[in-house]
Amino acid sequence: AYTAEPFVPGRGGLPALRKAAAGCRGCPLHRDATQVVFGDGSADARVMLVGEQPGDQEDRQGKPFVGPAGKLLDRALADAGIDPGEAYVTNAVKHFKFTQAEPRKRRIHKAPNLREMSACGPWLAAELAVVEPELIVVLGATAGKALLGSSFRVTQVRGTVLEEEIHGRPERLVPTVHPSAVLRSDDREAAYQGMVSDLKVAARALS
Ligand code: URA
Ligand code: SF4
Repeated sequence: AYTAEPFVPGRGGLPALRKAAAGCRGCPLHRDATQVVFGDGSADARVMLVGEQPGDQEDRQGKPFVGPAGKLLDRALADAGIDPGEAYVTNAVKHFKFTQAEPRKRRIHKAPNLREMSACGPWLAAELAVVEPELIVVLGATAGKALLGSSFRVTQVRGTVLEEEIHGRPERLVPTVHPSAVLRSDDREAAYQGMVSDLKVAARALS
């Protein structure tokens, strides 16, 4: 099976993890991506945000949530009373997966499959072990399935505080929709307000 496990160092904190992730060959996604997009933020962060996988901009810049979805996420966090600069931000899968009709044509995001999500899981487990966040904000269905299993349904649990064992540790989680889903929504304002109200539950759980 695909797995990042042999590439994950057992010590050295976030700097060692970030450096090692650049050489991960745990699944085929590293082949077509520009670079790994590891998590970003302080090891002291109280809250960890988990998205799906890097998008086009993130793949080019090497940082999570720097594109349009990230801009919306930062605004929603601030509106909910969470300082985006104090969060640790990462993704369930660390390489950009895309399709491209022809070279130099636009790269279209493709959802990672279960094998890729579980292959990349050891990186997320290592980030959780180092950061030990007080709360995990789960951004959308892919992150939810990666953390909580394939029966996860974001519509059923969004805006609630879940207590679950994740990679052997007890964690508190608040799921919400993915910011890209807000951007794609027919009623963007309503979708945005829904996300902010979920994030307010996270803000309250942190205070
Ligand atoms: N969407 C994600 O899930 N993660 C990113 O880093 C950017 C967009
Ligand atoms: Fe490794 Fe994850 Fe990249 Fe696959 S997606 S190569 S498991 S870092």
